[in-house]
Amino acid sequence: MKYLGRLFERNQAWAGERSAADPGYFSRLAHIQRPDLLWIGCSDSRVPANQIVGLEPGELFVHRNVANVVPVTDLNAMAVIEYAVSSLGVRHIIICGHYHCGGVRAALEGHQAGAVALWLQPLRNLAAAHREELEAQPSDDARWDRLCELNVVAQVQAVATSEVVQAAWERGAELAVHGWIYDLEDGLLRDLEVTEGRVADAGG
Ligand code: CO
Repeated sequence: MKYLGRLFERNQAWAGERSAADPGYFSRLAHIQRPDLLWIGCSDSRVPANQIVGLEPGELFVHRNVANVVPVTDLNAMAVIEYAVSSLGVRHIIICGHYHCGGVRAALEGHQAGAVALWLQPLRNLAAAHREELEAQPSDDARWDRLCELNVVAQVQAVATSEVVQAAWERGAELAVHGWIYDLEDGLLRDLEVTEGRVADAGG
């Protein structure tokens, strides 16, 4: 338990630092949650949502799963999107994939069993739908990274056509769905420029 014990020590140190810098910090956060952004990303431990975009607790509503896949039949993801859009009123949904995604790799290799294999079926379908483009890539790594990008584009489409997002647009809500990709090699994000919907100002 030594290792886990250290996590509690770190937690106490972190909470102490926050309170010392701003005595009202936790009581304010406890009573209000008003993020403007929903982040849908991969569970990969190297892609920590808040840290890579420099956002504090309270600023980012987050959903992560293996390979950032958003099937409309996934009650978990749909509930997150519904809550974020209808209750929190987020104006931006960011689907953020990453290069060298292990889930995407597994779907390309395509010979596993179990829950992960079932979960990755939409990615295998996506790879099949883009077989020519993928086969034209110069290397296995390039194929892998291209499927990571195609996955983000497909998930932007899935979220944009979901019932919740369609209903939000029908009632005139300001809401945009973005597709980004993160590079583990340099820590940088890239906008794939497949945004659906619009928001009046760029900030928020
Ligand atoms: Co991943």
